[in-house]
Amino acid sequence: MERNVQSLLNRISFASITFATITLFFLFSHSPTTPCQSPHQTLIIRFPKSSCEANHREHLPHEKRTRRLWSTRDWRKKVDSYTDFFQILRNIGLLNNNSNVLCVSAGAGHEVMALIEMGVVDVTGVEVVDWPPLVSRADPHDLPFFDGVFDLGFSAHLAESLFPTRFVAELERTVRPGGISVLALEEWVEVGEIRDLFRKSSSVGARNVTLMGSKMTQIIMRNGIPP
Ligand SMILES: *[C@@H]1O[C@H](CO)[C@@H](O)[C@H](O)[C@H]1NC(C)=O
Repeated sequence: MERNVQSLLNRISFASITFATITLFFLFSHSPTTPCQSPHQTLIIRFPKSSCEANHREHLPHEKRTRRLWSTRDWRKKVDSYTDFFQILRNIGLLNNNSNVLCVSAGAGHEVMALIEMGVVDVTGVEVVDWPPLVSRADPHDLPFFDGVFDLGFSAHLAESLFPTRFVAELERTVRPGGISVLALEEWVEVGEIRDLFRKSSSVGARNVTLMGSKMTQIIMRNGIPP
């Protein structure tokens, strides 16, 4: 009798385990794919916080949201700040209306708008999360552009990259020989250390600037080490 009970219990526990296994398998095989876990999202994302957030807000038409963003005082102030920043480059002859400019990690595109408003015709902005119409999606560590297609590569967000060497290498690759890379970095950053990240460029200069209310350092490198 006792053996029968034991056998029954064994069968019940076997059935339970089987059921649990099937349930788990079912749950795993039906769990939704998570678009937020892209292996390319190595940067700190500013606009929006994550692509999930963007998906959740899709009920508000993107154009409407963008127009609202563009009409804020904060947006205007930041764009104007970038205009001052780029004006320095124009004044020293490193930027003109015909420059083909790439802005890496451009967020919602303040710098892209500043350049367009200044009269620069060919401006490309990229970010891990796209923000049309100013910014399209691209991994800063694997830029979808041929070698040497830009006259000027700019980023204010190298410091947030997990792979700064790769970030800089991509900037150097996509800027033409003789073209320039421009970085805006936190004031405390060691200029020498940043310059060392560049393997194929020589230093043009570095200066203190105020960008979006913060004291920053503008570093300019020219592609192609002089012979
Ligand atoms: C660049 O474009 C702006 C805006 O269209 C214009 O005002 C400016 O004169 C242009 N500069 C040159 C040098 O053509």
